[in-house]
Amino acid sequence: MSLICKHVDALTGYTPGEQPRFEGMVKLNTNENPYPPSPDVSAALASFDWQKLRLYPDPVCNKVRALIAELNGCSPEQVFVGNGSDEILALFTRAFVEVGGRIGYFDPTYSLYSVLAAIRDATVKPFALNADFTCPLPPADYADTFIWTNPNAPTSLMADPEVIASFAKSFKGVLLIDEAYADFAPANCMSIATAPENTNTLVMRTLSKSYSLAGMRFGYCVGPKELIDALYKIKDSYNMDALAQVIGFAALNDQAHMKQNAAKIIQTRATLAQALEARGWQVLPSASNFLFAKPPVNAAELFAALRERHIFVRYFPAEKTKDYLRITIGTPAEVEKLLAVLADYNA
Ligand SMILES: Cc1ncc(COP(=O)(O)O)c(C=O)c1O
Repeated sequence: MSLICKHVDALTGYTPGEQPRFEGMVKLNTNENPYPPSPDVSAALASFDWQKLRLYPDPVCNKVRALIAELNGCSPEQVFVGNGSDEILALFTRAFVEVGGRIGYFDPTYSLYSVLAAIRDATVKPFALNADFTCPLPPADYADTFIWTNPNAPTSLMADPEVIASFAKSFKGVLLIDEAYADFAPANCMSIATAPENTNTLVMRTLSKSYSLAGMRFGYCVGPKELIDALYKIKDSYNMDALAQVIGFAALNDQAHMKQNAAKIIQTRATLAQALEARGWQVLPSASNFLFAKPPVNAAELFAALRERHIFVRYFPAEKTKDYLRITIGTPAEVEKLLAVLADYNA
């Protein structure tokens, strides 16, 4: 008899994007920010009293929660802080999905959701995107919970927040809007989460992308106190370490730096999209820090050829995505290198 739970034995774990470390490589495969975090992060690290590490951190992140509440126009009781948004997603599946319950999300989307559902032994309910990768409206009773990724990954497309707001109103279960890429988009859904009448919707953000802090784990979500309380009830005692709280505060407190970097990335995104289109690629209109685009040559072969030249992009071999590459927006110099290699390869 196996010592491992049957459903764990049967599941395939999440495969994170490759994390290569080559001198001079162009790393455009995991949607990291090409620019460093705020200088205030460096100052916070330099002045951090290392001797304080002997003490446990604040278990509920009061200082940084108050700042997040101020930034989003809600009360600190409506904010949950997690060890990366991946932790919040895992807690979400534990707090709001009964054993055997139904977790809905679009297909394709962030591939971690199905793995978390399998870990929870839940029923997965992928809802197919339209052929052009736009989001159809799921029925109000589609699942017990629904994760709506906006902008979506890997497609880069943004759905209209008003459409999501009307879905939130009609949906019978708990809706989590994953806004990992919202700072690169022209609009977002935060006002759905903070509306006084909201009882079922959480909006989640991460510091991994727009705040250039993927190397530190920091995500948060905003929503009704009752749902936030449920997340606090089941989290690890000290899910956010002392350094993450200090660094997260410094980064969030420098909105100007984040917005400046996001603006640079949005500009480079337009340049790259235009250059690819001129080379015969079909580029989806991105509202994120990456492009999802169909090259005029075989995508799998191009992915491998780029990889050999130490240019890393992401390829998803599933039927619906196999003709596309997902390319994170890098610096203008990185984008030029990519375009030079593409010209060599006639792609
Ligand atoms: C849609 C989406 N949500 C969440 C995450 C995870 O973010 P974090 O680094 O905060 O765990 C990612 C990471 O790529 C993502 O693409």
